[in-house]
Amino acid sequence: MGIATVITSGKGGVGKSTASVGLGRALAARGRRVLLVDCDAGLRGLDRLSGAEDDLVYDISDVVFGRCSPAQAIYPCRTRDEESEDGGEEGLFLLPAPAKVEDMVRPPVMRRLIPLLCRYYDHVLLDSPAGVGTGFQAAACAADRAVVLCGPDPVSVRSASSVRQLLSGLGLKDMRLMINQFDRGLFRETGAFRDLDGVIDAAGIRLGALVPLDRSLAAAFLRGKPAPEGSPGMLAISRAAARLEGENVPMPAWYLS
Ligand SMILES: Nc1ncnc2c1ncn2[C@@H]1O[C@H](COP(=O)(O)OP(=O)(O)OP(=O)(O)O)[C@@H](O)[C@H]1O
Ligand SMILES: [Mg+2]
Repeated sequence: MGIATVITSGKGGVGKSTASVGLGRALAARGRRVLLVDCDAGLRGLDRLSGAEDDLVYDISDVVFGRCSPAQAIYPCRTRDEESEDGGEEGLFLLPAPAKVEDMVRPPVMRRLIPLLCRYYDHVLLDSPAGVGTGFQAAACAADRAVVLCGPDPVSVRSASSVRQLLSGLGLKDMRLMINQFDRGLFRETGAFRDLDGVIDAAGIRLGALVPLDRSLAAAFLRGKPAPEGSPGMLAISRAAARLEGENVPMPAWYLS
């Protein structure tokens, strides 16, 4: 039986979909079967980021309304860099969100569907939409745990703290903070927090990952490709994936400096 993890933030544009695909790729590289579930009805993006885009016919609402079987709506992602000789990981799949927001799958249905999917995958990663409305509830209600994203700025950190309270209200206890798009120079210049411990304290969530601003990662994912070799963002996400699997991976030294 697999485990369902919601990737959420409250505030939009902090990197939930990027982190979902990154964690998916990293867990698949560890030999796991991983299902990405795009919960952003009407504004879906995981199809493009995961490289599955060209193949889509059905989505999660087709499964729920009986228009197709779950297997017909689940697509393998292009995890290998097809331009290079060396292979790449297998095991990453996508269940797309509906193209129209009216077809959003509601929380009670997600509570039934996600445990069924967890029978067939080691990890089910639920990419939450921005905000804390029905889409967020639908993504979070069936999760066993959460990765809460924020940037190192006071607005998104406050949003992460609000989301923590909402997730607690849904009964979720296991939460990890992913501080994304970290840039030390900008962080110091902004001066909103004394240090990263200040960010963690304000969010009230234990740190699961510190992901640097990494344009090479963003550019590769936006083309549906894996991150380039040695991408610092992908290395941080891979360490986060190992922690999600229970490994005790220390934070990198630059976190402390
Ligand atoms: N670590 C990073 N370094 C550089 N760019 C990043 C990083 N993480 C995300 N981005 C970029 O930030 C933008 C927003 O990312 P993304 O779409 O993953 O956010 P989101 O939280 O899913 O947004 P939404 O709330 O709209 O769903 C994208 O252009 C993405 O490429
Ligand atoms: Mg997104």
